[in-house]
Amino acid sequence: MFYIIPTLLLFKTSLSLCGKVAQLTSEAPLIVVSLVSPQYHRGTNHSENYMTRNQPHHQTEMAKEFCLEDYDAIGFDLDNTLAMYNLKNLMELEYNCLAEYLVEHKNYNKEALLKPFNEESTAFLQRGLIVDSKRGNLLKLDSTGRIMKVAHGLSFLTTEEIKKTYGDQLTWDVTNEFVKDYLSTWNGPLSEQMRSFLDYFDMPGSLIFARAVEYIDKQNNGRPLDSYNVFKDMVDGFFYMYSSEHFAENKGKFFPAIKQYPDKYYTKCSPHILEWLKALKNKNKILFLLTGSYVDYASHTAKTCLGEDWKQYFDFIGYFSKKPGFFTGVNRPFLRISNSKEKDEILHSELEPGQSFSQGNWDGLMEAIKKSLNKTNIKTLYLGDNFIQDLYTPSKYSHWDTVAVCAEQAAEGFHTKLDPDSSHLKSNLWDSYFYITSNQKKYPTLWTDILKKHCKICVPSISYLASEPINKTYSTFDHEDLGLNTDGFHPK
Ligand SMILES: *[C@@H]1O[C@H](CO)[C@@H](O)[C@H](O)[C@H]1NC(C)=O
Ligand SMILES: *[C@@H]1O[C@H](CO)[C@@H](O)[C@H](O)[C@H]1NC(C)=O
Ligand SMILES: *[C@@H]1O[C@H](CO)[C@@H](O)[C@H](O)[C@H]1NC(C)=O
Ligand SMILES: [Mg+2]
Repeated sequence: MFYIIPTLLLFKTSLSLCGKVAQLTSEAPLIVVSLVSPQYHRGTNHSENYMTRNQPHHQTEMAKEFCLEDYDAIGFDLDNTLAMYNLKNLMELEYNCLAEYLVEHKNYNKEALLKPFNEESTAFLQRGLIVDSKRGNLLKLDSTGRIMKVAHGLSFLTTEEIKKTYGDQLTWDVTNEFVKDYLSTWNGPLSEQMRSFLDYFDMPGSLIFARAVEYIDKQNNGRPLDSYNVFKDMVDGFFYMYSSEHFAENKGKFFPAIKQYPDKYYTKCSPHILEWLKALKNKNKILFLLTGSYVDYASHTAKTCLGEDWKQYFDFIGYFSKKPGFFTGVNRPFLRISNSKEKDEILHSELEPGQSFSQGNWDGLMEAIKKSLNKTNIKTLYLGDNFIQDLYTPSKYSHWDTVAVCAEQAAEGFHTKLDPDSSHLKSNLWDSYFYITSNQKKYPTLWTDILKKHCKICVPSISYLASEPINKTYSTFDHEDLGLNTDGFHPK
């Protein structure tokens, strides 16, 4: 049997996080439906599952070109989309916060975890690795859900060893559900068995997980345990780091450091990006910011990166949006903001341009935007870096078009110019973020599959988009392609 994590369930209702470990807090009401609805029943024929899952939605079914001018409303994620961090420093801080928590509060071995965050560390890290918490494994899947790479502790398994654990088909029930609907493992029992480290706020967790498992096995004469508690302990650590009230209270080590040393962790937004935001607004488009961060942390981030007058760039600002729940629920209330705190409910019909809110839902925001534009049909675009929260969910559930902002593209020089400064995002151990090589063949990863099915284009940064004319047209991904179609990556 799989162990359960009671604290996780408790925290979900009693604590609010700054949206950083959103998988543990965001409600995704469609999960229950997806698990019982007939088209999602547990099939054993995996290729069949693959063919029927995740059919994309598109506002313009046949469009092979993308142009910013075509949109009425353009929304931005904040962290690692508009507000850029020094990721090396950020990940080092996160690694240290989490490792120290495990040593101080959960009696983990100091020598095993408290190690310098150096090149050897970043070489083991890749965004999007999946934890098999019970077996103590880290997994990398291809776009059909096959488990192509596995690390137990810090050692990689051979294909034969992977087959011994996951069967000749290289699949696992839980990840099969995940690849059918990426929200199916977000909350509930499946979320205790697997989790994917989706963004730069939790990515260093995979190295801590691996080092802890490695040490536990060593203490057990090199034999793996039947079941590990490491993931559960890490979840407690993430709550300690990212609980939203800890920003104001200066607790949890993460927020205090971010507040004290902004220059170390943030990079200032280049003026050409700010000019570009103004130019978009001058074209009569509604611009909005939609962030998972609580109002105080988000304001600190936005002010540091975009400047004191950062609010002027946006018609609507949504905090603590609890993505993906923001995109799946239509009845989630909007809350008024006052003195950097959530207050009473505000109806979406009361939302006016220039206003901020907390939580809310996509449908109400669309109504407010339609009203302010006096239009019944609008085209909406959202730009973000989190493949499930910012790209898959708004595309699938809200029918918005999306643009992926993916720093790995430049870090690997994947269909764009190589950026040697972001080598800490590149991992030769895990292979490319976009594909997995096996027998000299390249197989697209899950993340490439999301790009092709749910995104118009993928860019390494907002800075690139902002340096091109607003009326420029870009070739888009081929949504039907099952291979490694790369039309949507820019710049070429
Ligand atoms: C699985 O489904 C695919 C597509 O429907 C079919 O071609 C294949 O024969 C099936 N395999 C098995 C083992 O049933
Ligand atoms: C909104 O649009 C409708 C139809 O296009 C028009 O009749 C109406 O006057 C417009 N209202 C405002 C406030 O501009
Ligand atoms: C794009 O905009 C520029 C400047 O406004 C203009 O000169 C150019 O003709 C436009 N290009 C297209 C393809 O519309
Ligand atoms: Mg983000």
